[in-house]
Amino acid sequence: MDEVWHPGDTRDRHPISCITRGGAVFIGEDYRPPSSTLGRAIVNTDDILMCPGPNDIADRVLRAMIRPAACPVTPEFQEFYERTLDMLAQVYQTHHQVVPIPGSGRSGVESAITSVIEPGDRALVIICGTFGHLAARVVNGVGGQAEEVYFPWGEQLDLGVIRDKLAQGTFKLVTMVHNETSSGAVYMNAGEVAKLAHAHGALFLLDAISSLAGADLPTDVWEVDLCVSCNHKAIAAPIGHAYVAVSNRAWAVMEGRREPCRNIFGGLLNWKAQLLDPPVDGRTMRRPQGVFTAVHLFYALHEALTMILEEGLEARFARHRLNAQAFREGIKALGLQPLARPELASPTVTCIPLPEGIRSADFLQYLQQDHGIFTLPGLSPYRDTAIRIGHMGVTAIPRCILHTLYAIESVLAKMGYRVVPGVAVNRAEQAYAEASAREPLKAVAS
Ligand SMILES: Cc1ncc(COP(=O)(O)O)c(C=O)c1O
Repeated sequence: MDEVWHPGDTRDRHPISCITRGGAVFIGEDYRPPSSTLGRAIVNTDDILMCPGPNDIADRVLRAMIRPAACPVTPEFQEFYERTLDMLAQVYQTHHQVVPIPGSGRSGVESAITSVIEPGDRALVIICGTFGHLAARVVNGVGGQAEEVYFPWGEQLDLGVIRDKLAQGTFKLVTMVHNETSSGAVYMNAGEVAKLAHAHGALFLLDAISSLAGADLPTDVWEVDLCVSCNHKAIAAPIGHAYVAVSNRAWAVMEGRREPCRNIFGGLLNWKAQLLDPPVDGRTMRRPQGVFTAVHLFYALHEALTMILEEGLEARFARHRLNAQAFREGIKALGLQPLARPELASPTVTCIPLPEGIRSADFLQYLQQDHGIFTLPGLSPYRDTAIRIGHMGVTAIPRCILHTLYAIESVLAKMGYRVVPGVAVNRAEQAYAEASAREPLKAVAS
């Protein structure tokens, strides 16, 4: 694990390296905890976070938080809050309201579901990996009934099966995960599932927690009613916010509830934009802050969104696709096979089953100790036998991909697996060269 500073530590320097390898920037500031922090542990984050979330954060985004405390109820902050959420709506490709919910990704899933599901309501929950289950837990937790429909990990959904399930009952909600972070599969046919849900009279919730800002997600075109994401994946901002983009159809369902939502602060209706009469600074609607907003997280979010919009959505998606592809090519050159089918391969996450006999915990320990790369194992049935690499936000760049491939190759060799030295990096470089021959690669701002 990371080095941790303990009270009484005799070393006189405690480096906190806020590193952005993704953007070619390194600020390594030596930091001595003041005496008031005695008793707290400080985590040294020298490793590259190639996790499927949280992932590394750009230096610019970290520095954006170094501002004085501000009270979120001031008109100035309200204006900043609204502008930032307008930017987020652009990333969501939606004209609808995006609500920021404090917490991690699952807080967004919980807010969205508890806002529409009431005791006795049924939801069809599509499951093709670990994260699909979250929705079922929340639906059942508020007295609804989740009917789960399963598809094999990393395989395509069968829309006919979903259609048949819908025909067998009355469902208020259909849920699915856009990018299954457990398997590394992305389902770009989510819009087709939304159509099936709507034809049945149900709302459609899409968990886009590990895809938004890394994979194309046209929320309005796909007619997603509740589209959930969060800070710490491809948006590349600090953990602490989830987001829900809410359609008019979903607001109408909330307004027509039989009984009030019991999720008091996370209930989305508390956050619904109110008419401003008269308009203020050209704005006709005001978005209430449902809780005291974490102002510093908003500063970070604003900077992360600025980076995303400066890069441009199309360019950003293309960058993620290219780096994911180069990574997978390198992995395959090692004789390994990513879990997801090639046509479903995610631009943000790859799950790699390891050769027989290699335990993920041992592999990951070497990856971190010897190469400074921190990531997570597979989940559920793959916990001991696979690893997952997140190539998203600032780590979806050749330098991180090549470093990670080299490290994987080296650890495999150390653990007794036969590899041709350099094969993974060479193959990935070839993929970059081929792509660059088609179209010159753009540098990524940091
Ligand atoms: C697809 C998906 N949904 C839900 C979650 C849960 O989000 P969090 O762990 O941020 O609460 C994750 C986390 O990795 C995820 O990848």
